[in-house]
Amino acid sequence: MDFGFTEEQLMLQDVARRIAQEKIAPSAEHFDRAGEFPLENIRLLGENGLMGIEVPEEYGGAGMDPIAYVLAMVEIAAGDAAHSTIMSVNNSLFCNGILKSGTEAQKQKYVRAIAEGREIGAFALTEPQSGSDATAMRCRAVKQADGSYVVNGKKSWITSGPVAKYIVLFAMSEPDKGARGITAFLVDTANPGFHRGKTEPKLGIRASATCEIEFQDYVVAAEDVLGAEGEGFKIAMGVLDAGRIGIASQAIGIARAAYEATLEYVKERKAFGAAIGTFQMTQAKIADMKCKLDAALLLTLRAAWVKGQDQRFSNEAAIAKLTASEAAMWITHQAVQIHGGMGYSKEMPLERYFRDAKITEIYEGTSEIQRLVIARNETGLR
Ligand code: CAA
Repeated sequence: MDFGFTEEQLMLQDVARRIAQEKIAPSAEHFDRAGEFPLENIRLLGENGLMGIEVPEEYGGAGMDPIAYVLAMVEIAAGDAAHSTIMSVNNSLFCNGILKSGTEAQKQKYVRAIAEGREIGAFALTEPQSGSDATAMRCRAVKQADGSYVVNGKKSWITSGPVAKYIVLFAMSEPDKGARGITAFLVDTANPGFHRGKTEPKLGIRASATCEIEFQDYVVAAEDVLGAEGEGFKIAMGVLDAGRIGIASQAIGIARAAYEATLEYVKERKAFGAAIGTFQMTQAKIADMKCKLDAALLLTLRAAWVKGQDQRFSNEAAIAKLTASEAAMWITHQAVQIHGGMGYSKEMPLERYFRDAKITEIYEGTSEIQRLVIARNETGLR
């Protein structure tokens, strides 16, 4: 295994770091407090190739590999988690499935605008009554004689839903077939029959917009079916495998920002006549934070590397996401604790890192689902 990065990977990391530190981090507090979508910053990410990192150049992307994606995501998340959420949905959840299962016309029509950051994409799997148990979806797609489908139903917790132009939608086309009865569709939110519902008031990643959506006799043309009928669940799972590498990277970025702030603080803050970084209880926390951060990064790079070899990477992605999200929660918790009152204050970003870290244990498969995936892979039992 090669622990070095290529010149191109380092260049993209550098671009992401510069934008994150110069544009995103200074505006993060404003967008978090206001709960405002950072459209201008997102356009800037798009202009710099960060909205379609693994998308081939012929479809408007940067044409880079999964390792480059990890490096860039970590930098953006270290600037602000909410920006990296929007970035991850465009890159992983939206573009990945279309690149893998879409027709040439679908790639040209849907991927380019999203990869260039001119439009925002979303992914609609979850419903009000089905989250982890994704096959229990009720949203119904009924096939018509001409090959089109009529969709009716609700989807919830749609990241970027309030601003998305295009959505990858999963709906039950043959309810008797369970997982094999789910089909994937490409939706244009400007079309009749698409409605937006309530916006979710969230604990963290508040600058990323999340809402319910509803389909009322929404017609999907035959050419907008993604993959074959009944293949939707497998498409969704494959896309989530890739998405989980992105969320692991996001968790690492949040954790790194909290860790770096803590390193500065323990050198400056004095108590009992000494810098608090000289106390053994603080030193133990610093050492454990660093070990968890490095372990999470190495596991995430491994998952990205396996993905880049065109091998199945479900297990590696689940291991990376589980490790990184739990590390981020623990590290941001310790960072708040070490900062004491300042950690609890909105005058410093520590409390935001802590709030933002929590979502990484929940979305794109909870920690419980990651454990289930890992245990099934390890034992072969179901
Ligand atoms: N890749 C390809 N195919 C896969 C797969 C994968 N990773 N995982 C499962 N499949 C296939 C199986 O092989 C099986 O195929 P066959 O019918 O040919 O045998 C089929 O899919 C059904 O699989 P399971 O029987 O394992 O399905 P299950 O009902 O037991 O569910 C699960 C498995 C892992 C629990 C899955 O439902 C899951 O991952 N749930 C979590 C859903 C999730 O992550 N939701 C996140 C919502 S999106 C989001 O959060 C976005 C956001 O806001 C940013």
